[in-house]
Amino acid sequence: MTTGLFIALEGGEGAGKSTQTERLRLHLESLGFEVVVTREPGGTPTAEKIRNILLDPSIHDMPDETEALLFAASRADHAENKIRPALARGAVVLCDRYIDSSVAYQGAARGLGIDRVRALSEWATRELHPDFTIYLDVPADASAERMEGTDRMEIQSADFHIRVQQAFRDIAAASTRPHIVVDATLSIEQVTSEILAALTPLLEKQ
Ligand SMILES: Nc1ncnc2c1ncn2[C@@H]1O[C@H](COP(=O)(O)OP(=O)(O)OP(=O)(O)O)[C@@H](O)[C@H]1O
Ligand SMILES: [Mg+2]
Repeated sequence: MTTGLFIALEGGEGAGKSTQTERLRLHLESLGFEVVVTREPGGTPTAEKIRNILLDPSIHDMPDETEALLFAASRADHAENKIRPALARGAVVLCDRYIDSSVAYQGAARGLGIDRVRALSEWATRELHPDFTIYLDVPADASAERMEGTDRMEIQSADFHIRVQQAFRDIAAASTRPHIVVDATLSIEQVTSEILAALTPLLEKQ
């Protein structure tokens, strides 16, 4: 049983996940919540080591299957050693990317199959799902303009990022779990206020 609140932020590169995670952290802390900010891939010492492999731009020959398994492996460690303990003590967990990112990138954009990739992560996390998911919907051209890094995912083709963007839209449209889709081309402040409006009823129950 978990007592905290598990919130995932999803979207393509440059959608504003990290920006909004930090803004939400400040807001929630000002309301008195214990907030645990974390990210994927990574979030624990072991998962951060796996992250370094996953995002290493000098690796050019990683099979898609290896990529999918490494994401799932890092997620298993993260769910078990960081997210579950935080939820057990009642914290609000803000997770910058989670299972849906694997479904969009490896399942859809890499073409490994969305059902298979989702099932892999559900197995890896023993079905630890977010209580609420925030999808930041960014058009691929805006995403390209905002991209800051040169990691192994960011340097994929424009076509790849278009597939990612469409995949997130499809995932959100098909989702039966609590979520919101926010237009990430709005101002940073507008995006935050849309998210907070959606989260308020959940926070009042905490
Ligand atoms: N709503 C917005 N309007 C304009 N610029 C924004 C908005 N949100 C974020 N940005 C800017 O876009 C850049 C990328 O934002 P951010 O790092 O939060 O994205 P991200 O989703 O975390 O990206 P990544 O997937 O690469 O980690 C930053 O320079 C940020 O200031
Ligand atoms: Mg980020």
